[in-house]
Amino acid sequence: MSGVDTFRASAEAYDRHVGRYGTRLAEAFLAFTALAPPARALDVGCGPGALTRVLADRLGPLNVCAVEPSEPFARACRERTPGVEVTVAAAERLPFADAAFDAVLSQLVINFLDDAQAGVRELARVTRPGGTVAACVWDYAGEMTLLRAFWDAAREVDPARAAAADEGVAMRWCGDGELAELWRGAGLRDVRFEPLVARASYRDFEDLWSPLPTGVAPSGAFCASLDDAGRIALHDAYRRRLGVGDGPFELTARAWAVAGITPSS
Ligand SMILES: C[S@@+](CC[C@H](N)C(=O)[O-])C[C@H]1O[C@@H](n2cnc3c(N)ncnc32)[C@H](O)[C@@H]1O
Repeated sequence: MSGVDTFRASAEAYDRHVGRYGTRLAEAFLAFTALAPPARALDVGCGPGALTRVLADRLGPLNVCAVEPSEPFARACRERTPGVEVTVAAAERLPFADAAFDAVLSQLVINFLDDAQAGVRELARVTRPGGTVAACVWDYAGEMTLLRAFWDAAREVDPARAAAADEGVAMRWCGDGELAELWRGAGLRDVRFEPLVARASYRDFEDLWSPLPTGVAPSGAFCASLDDAGRIALHDAYRRRLGVGDGPFELTARAWAVAGITPSS
């Protein structure tokens, strides 16, 4: 199953999985871009709408558009952000004219693009000269605790398959500085690159575990592909690695953020 297919899931399962970090990450990401009204912005790969909602609150819903290839996620985003124009479309073919936006933002998406170079050029195409193109991706190999501990546990249970699926290895553009290279390669100027940290709360380990067997996201798809014994072994190894149990806890997740300016001519 491709990365994109794992997001044709229910928005509710996504909310309980990585979506739990979405709003706080979006707030930190928006602060990093320094985007302020008046501005017209596009959210690319909006999912159920964490960043879209933060953008709509800041800029006004009529100044925000969003695109998302997964129909259920686009529908959830539309319901959650009244007034925002949400279209089913992919980053590589944005249904907008050149220079249509002051800023184009994309949260946790660039690593899922088949051709990220072409995707970033397309983000820049719909941004006005002197506008901002920005993105962030999880630090899968490092301090995205939820997913790092998941893949480390998965490698204990099914070493060969987990080694190939581990997002810390499989995902491009997620290492320190890689996004900045991608941005400069697309001709963007004044490129800035920084870590962002978001936090999420859990009632207990079962609260964290419950969305995974639904198959949401690459980690959920791996969990759902195991037989019952494998899933129980993964559940126990994951819980042990996180060192959490029946009480409430918090996890932090680091993302890398990049922003650049489109050339004036
Ligand atoms: C980890 S989710 C992030 C969703 C949302 N931006 C957020 O912060 O919660 C990755 C999203 O990228 C979307 N996606 C995958 N391939 C894409 C593509 N080619 N163009 C745009 N979005 C894509 C998925 O459907 C999914 O909604």
